[in-house]
Amino acid sequence: MKYPKEYLDEIKIRLKVSTVVSKHVSLKKRGKEFVGLSPFKNEKTPSFTVNDEKGFYHCFSTSEHGNIFDFVMKMQNFKFGEAVKFLANLAGMTPYRFSKVDEQREKEWDEYTGIYSFYADYYHNELLNNPTSKIALDYLKKRKIDNSIIKEFKIGFVNFNSSIYERLSKNYDIKILNESGLFFHDENKKIYVERFRNRIIFPINSLSGKPMAFGGRIIDTKNKYAKYINSPETNFFRKGNNLYNLDRVRKISHKFDEVFLVEGYMDVIGLSKFQIENCIANLGTALTDKQIYMVTQFFDNIVICFDGDESGYKAAIRAAENSIKNVLPDKQIYFLFLPDGEDPDTFVEKKGKNEFLDFYKNNKIPVHKLIFEHYKKENSSSPSALASLEKRLKGIANSVKDNVVKKYILGYFLESLAKHSPGTVFKNSNKPFIGFNKPLDKTKKLFKDTEIFSSVDIKEFCLIYIMINNLNFFYQRPDLLENIKFLKKENGLIFDQILECIKNGNLDDLQVDNQLLDQIEKYANIKHIVYKNDKDESKIVEIFNDIKNELKTHDLELRIQELESKFAEDFNQNTFDEINRLKKEQNIN
Ligand code: UTP
Ligand code: MN
Repeated sequence: MKYPKEYLDEIKIRLKVSTVVSKHVSLKKRGKEFVGLSPFKNEKTPSFTVNDEKGFYHCFSTSEHGNIFDFVMKMQNFKFGEAVKFLANLAGMTPYRFSKVDEQREKEWDEYTGIYSFYADYYHNELLNNPTSKIALDYLKKRKIDNSIIKEFKIGFVNFNSSIYERLSKNYDIKILNESGLFFHDENKKIYVERFRNRIIFPINSLSGKPMAFGGRIIDTKNKYAKYINSPETNFFRKGNNLYNLDRVRKISHKFDEVFLVEGYMDVIGLSKFQIENCIANLGTALTDKQIYMVTQFFDNIVICFDGDESGYKAAIRAAENSIKNVLPDKQIYFLFLPDGEDPDTFVEKKGKNEFLDFYKNNKIPVHKLIFEHYKKENSSSPSALASLEKRLKGIANSVKDNVVKKYILGYFLESLAKHSPGTVFKNSNKPFIGFNKPLDKTKKLFKDTEIFSSVDIKEFCLIYIMINNLNFFYQRPDLLENIKFLKKENGLIFDQILECIKNGNLDDLQVDNQLLDQIEKYANIKHIVYKNDKDESKIVEIFNDIKNELKTHDLELRIQELESKFAEDFNQNTFDEINRLKKEQNIN
């Protein structure tokens, strides 16, 4: 059985050789390449090189070279099929099962992209060579887009009276043509009408560079039509799974550390006119996790550009809250607000390349900073506002998927909060606690100490803290204590004791080791929130359940990771199904 070339290419596009190799070899960047110690030979001087641009590794000491498939076959002793399964999984793709459905879909995809390629070529040619396209060419000239850029982006124009439905219907599958989204069916006239008629069209390509949708701009914006329209979602095109121009910039990603994510097609083209080529655009919708994931496979940093007005700011906050969970070690998400009234295209047109890049360097804001600044601004510094601010920020930090980044962002939030309000919080509380009213250096020490404990440990401390301080309440609500699993052994033992007491109704008999109790007292960073709400049982239940859920999510994550390594070895369908089941459970949670 042979894998379709398109499927294998997709894996290669999504996974850089350096990404795959660096799972086994520690690589250092050297010019265009990476170098490291050969995994095939015991050596002291690095002779193993990786070239992402070419898609190959080469080992100078053993003269071996190959692509990602060769590498994992050799390193993990895989057969080709196993290597494909392993790498497809790593690339976030569904396994290819050689079923009738897969084959059929492959055929339809070829047919679909065939239609779109023909269409893109045809109307690109019309724009450049048909005299009736003058109005569109003039418009583009006015916007300083010359023929070389038209060719580079394969921009086209669909004349008002033009239709190539007939022609396409002779050469392509009629069902796929009708579902392509390129034509409307006019029920009265019983004809197919061009969706993009009278519009300048920008092809949106798959990662492998095949046109699969269009964005279309009307020339005269005075009429009632929308300024831009996109191809509708089809069986093959999902807006949230694609980004304009990513197919082109991924090929030059080794030249840049960052990519600018802008709002419009014209922004990508405008920046690229000024030799700022590392630009992509989302397609008129909110940024999805999938898009971020795709971009981070090629670039370390994403710079999301927004207009400097009110609606741009609001959209940015939404995007920030939604995207922070995808930050990975060494991958950062930045935001850049342009001056009010400008978009990247108009800015660069007025100020030029250097000023745009300077503006970027001086004004980019990392996602966690944007979020902190935003909420700080929104909240007053009253104790209750600060407590809810802290809870909110913790919730956001907790949504971060990568555990190391999570810890770092949580630390940043807490430290910023301490700086923001030293001495203002909980002044009136008469109970001793370690909180933000401590002098800053002490607070810093606490952060340092805290590092001995993982965020999971601390969450477990919080749960126990709440239980110990509300034994009576949990005696009445033992249901809340179901389905809790502690990873830290000592915590598990205390929990067993608590359960025992509650079961017997001897609440005064709870004996917890003093040292452990001190630790919990000291590190349960939830306690000021609990103090604040200590009369409000429903609030306590809410906080308790929140933490319980966070721990459950963590547990699921661990189990998924474990199964994923297992899957890499056994390729067992059951393992795979179990992974998917847990991922679903994780989403529900
Ligand atoms: P803008 O309205 O900011 O347009 O829309 P623009 O990019 O500055 O374009 P020009 O300079 O006026 O030509 C930004 C993006 O929002 C989506 C499109 O994807 C567009 O590129 N959009 C906008 C729509 O989908 N429909 C619309 O009617 C307008
Ligand atoms: Mn614009």
